[in-house]
Amino acid sequence: MLLDGKVAIVTGAGRGIGREEALLMAKHGAKLVVNDLGGHFDGTGSDVGPAQQVVNEIKAAGGEAVANTESVTDFKGAKRIVEQALDSFGQLNILVNNAGILRDRMIFNMSEEEWDAVIDVHMKGTFNCSRHACEYWREQHKAGNILNGRVINTSSDAGLLGSPGQPNYGPAKAAVATMAIIVDREMQKYGVTGNAIAPLARTRLTVDATPQTAGLMDAREGEHDYFSPHHVAPLVAWLASDDAAGVHGEVFRVGGGCVWLMKGWHSAGTVKKLGNWDPNELGDELKVELAKGGTAKEELGSVFKSLKS
Ligand SMILES: NC(=O)c1ccc[n+]([C@@H]2O[C@H](COP(=O)([O-])OP(=O)(O)OC[C@H]3O[C@@H](n4cnc5c(N)ncnc54)[C@H](O)[C@@H]3O)[C@@H](O)[C@H]2O)c1
Repeated sequence: MLLDGKVAIVTGAGRGIGREEALLMAKHGAKLVVNDLGGHFDGTGSDVGPAQQVVNEIKAAGGEAVANTESVTDFKGAKRIVEQALDSFGQLNILVNNAGILRDRMIFNMSEEEWDAVIDVHMKGTFNCSRHACEYWREQHKAGNILNGRVINTSSDAGLLGSPGQPNYGPAKAAVATMAIIVDREMQKYGVTGNAIAPLARTRLTVDATPQTAGLMDAREGEHDYFSPHHVAPLVAWLASDDAAGVHGEVFRVGGGCVWLMKGWHSAGTVKKLGNWDPNELGDELKVELAKGGTAKEELGSVFKSLKS
């Protein structure tokens, strides 16, 4: 099987996309640490139920898994998640940073707390878990134990394209895509890859937390269920495998059976003068260059259209 002998942590695996990723990786032979704080979509509260339920499902299907209810926002708690993998299964190969919350608000209304809570889970949580996993992989590599470590971060079109109402979530999601690229560059010499996904799926984050997207993701009778969260998991399972050893610092959008290869910031035109620009002259030249349209941004509406065509 694709992930035989592998040990994986999936954060936020009690529900939604993370649950599907954990179930599929277990089906393909991985032993799982199912982490989930079990709170509300805004990050408040906690409940052991969701993580334990996924563990029960994996075990019922003949797999191996343990539950963990640490918050990824806690630096020491994140270390305990990694330690639980080592204590339970003797090693760690795969880290899927998936835990997430939402607290949407326009920038002029957003409170400091709403900003901090979202940055904490997505950006700091991804850092916390990656930091401890990468320390472990580096030590093991130096000791001659090659574990083919995998870090898979969960980004979002909110971060890659920029979505109004999410000035906390969007930047955090852009950051975790960049963090995957940086982790990859730092950790390649220890046999570790870092990549990121930007999923499109019907979960409580796209139904309850953001009602404006809810209707767009409904399953229609007799039609392919484009937005079932199970469409995300095959990409993550493959990226986690040894077969994806050559995939470095990539970002993929994924949903509905479609995987898009994403290309990030790159130069789309230049204006140049071997001398000092006058600001007016520079502005005139930039307007000509911008009018060529090379910097046009992708819109989520056209993404949805391309998925269904
Ligand atoms: N659903 C989509 O279309 C979509 C799009 C882009 C990105 N994402 C991202 O995918 C990831 C999964 O989200 P989902 O849509 O499955 O939502 P979800 O709410 O179903 O799942 C997220 C899980 O993360 C857990 N969690 C939250 N804070 C945590 C913490 N501090 N520590 C540990 N666990 C915590 C929650 O309890 C929840 O079970 C998130 O990072 C989300 O931002 C989702």
